Amino acid sequence: MPEKTKTAILSDKPHLKKVEWDAQEAQQIIAPYARLKGGLMEALHALQHAFGYIPAESYDLLADAFNLSRAEVYGVKSFYHNFRDNPPGRHVIRVCQAESCQATGGRALTEHVQHLLGVKLGETTRDGHYTLEEVYCLGNCAVSPNITLDGRLHGRMSAARFDALLQTKRAAHD
Ligand code: FES
Repeated sequence: MPEKTKTAILSDKPHLKKVEWDAQEAQQIIAPYARLKGGLMEALHALQHAFGYIPAESYDLLADAFNLSRAEVYGVKSFYHNFRDNPPGRHVIRVCQAESCQATGGRALTEHVQHLLGVKLGETTRDGHYTLEEVYCLGNCAVSPNITLDGRLHGRMSAARFDALLQTKRAAHD
């Protein structure tokens, strides 16, 4: 298996409302990809787009559709960094952990963001408002360090700029 891929998906915006598991909907989402080459990845992306994560209930549906075992489906899903196991918070913040951003203050920025939100990377705040995730290169290294907030890229990020960004978000009661 190739080295673990950690690619950013900028278009992966979180959903603003919680989407409950719906087997029929999941089946409809998966069906168009069932016979396509690379269809499993497409189906996983489509499921995450619809539900905000990959519900464990979908593994059997995917296994049936792609003639794989449940373990094989889980293996593929786990191999890719961007697929979530749990529903995200209302807003998703991703902090770049790749080399350029790390060399320009990304580590301290990550610590600041974790401290401010009271969560570690990969966690969601208790109120469900923010999910904090790591990402590995957003393709914007020239203006490192970078974060995304709900899929929107913000370069030259600093602790002060992050505070202002969060304040604006909170003030909008979004
Ligand atoms: S290393 Fe962070 S954007 Fe490239």
